[in-house]
Amino acid sequence: MSVTALIVAAGSGERMGSGVPKQYRLLGGKPVLRRAVEAFANHPCIDAVRVVISELHESQARQVLQGLDVGQLVLGGKQRADSVRAGLAATASANVLVHDAARPFCPPQVIDRLLDALGSHDGAAPVLPIGDTLARAGELLGDPIDRAGAVRVQTPQAFCADGLRSAYDRWTGEAPTDETSVARAAGLSVAAVTGDPLLEKLTTPADWDRAEAMLAARLVSRTGLGFDVHGFAGDGPVMLGGIAVPHSRGLSGHSDADVVLHAITDALLGAAALGDIGEYFPPTDPQWQGAASDRFLAYAAELIRSSGGMIDHVDCTIICEEPKIGPHRSAMRARIAVILGLKDIDVNIKATTTEGLGFTGRREGIAAQAVASIRMQGHA
Ligand code: CTP
Ligand code: MG
Repeated sequence: MSVTALIVAAGSGERMGSGVPKQYRLLGGKPVLRRAVEAFANHPCIDAVRVVISELHESQARQVLQGLDVGQLVLGGKQRADSVRAGLAATASANVLVHDAARPFCPPQVIDRLLDALGSHDGAAPVLPIGDTLARAGELLGDPIDRAGAVRVQTPQAFCADGLRSAYDRWTGEAPTDETSVARAAGLSVAAVTGDPLLEKLTTPADWDRAEAMLAARLVSRTGLGFDVHGFAGDGPVMLGGIAVPHSRGLSGHSDADVVLHAITDALLGAAALGDIGEYFPPTDPQWQGAASDRFLAYAAELIRSSGGMIDHVDCTIICEEPKIGPHRSAMRARIAVILGLKDIDVNIKATTTEGLGFTGRREGIAAQAVASIRMQGHA
């Protein structure tokens, strides 16, 4: 059976009240809409994914969906139901899964259950039992609502596309908040399959905080090591830890030769298992001639954050006889913290000599070692 996943993302997220509509916000480093789309794009039974957006957010939508095969974006309407109608008109498959972009975590098993049920019903929806007591709302609490036998209905919801289209054509009620109401009113049989707490909709700031906490709890700690050396050549100052340290001699290198930032960059890339600095900024590439190394460091931090990771701490030891590092330590620490988007307390800079031994002892150059602690999504 051919199946299109129709993701409705044309809302404005009033109740979230966050300025940027919730579907375009980064959740654990990735936009909510991208997460919602990926869940379907990665499922072997889904043939196509279409996304319904508001005309106000076309450029944001294109940006967060970059690289994903979603065909032409569909423009939605005022109410969710208008957006679903517009999406159905653009759906070519025999079957459709209608899903809220505001539900970024759709387990593949739910899709399996829905498609199974669609084999013997006109439609299917995931449901969960209600744990809390239900009552009529008001300043004074109203009458209790019997929750026995009641369920919460989630999305995605699966239907034969023609069946759902004609159900919408016949619908005369108020704007529905999902498809099961419309389908059932048209006499379609809708199977209830087991839903999943991960499908909870992001509606209020509290929902957002819970989702962030859930993602953070899945992070695992990792550590990376970095090391770099540059030899003295020419006149000073030397760039160290992102600041110009006055010195009679400078360091030679293709970029600005900032050993401290290079060592920390490699420590971060190491922690994330992303290779090393030379893979991203090859010394043979003329565009990095004399480049300020804060770009390299900021890039490594961005790679980690954009994959949902976070940087906890970096520590660096600078090994040289000269220049003296002590007077510049706090400025380096503050600069590195700014580049990495950390607090000063998350950055440490130490220095040592090698008691006159080796190339650093002979004042031929400066070495730096760094470790970085980060947290990233685990593989479980
Ligand atoms: N939606 C839509 N078109 C609309 C309204 C809503 O496509 N005119 C989508 C939303 O983008 C969301 C889903 O329907 O993915 C569920 O709606 P809801 O959670 O109510 O989102 P918003 O309408 O954006 O939020 P709010 O009601 O708080 O403004
Ligand atoms: Mg809404």
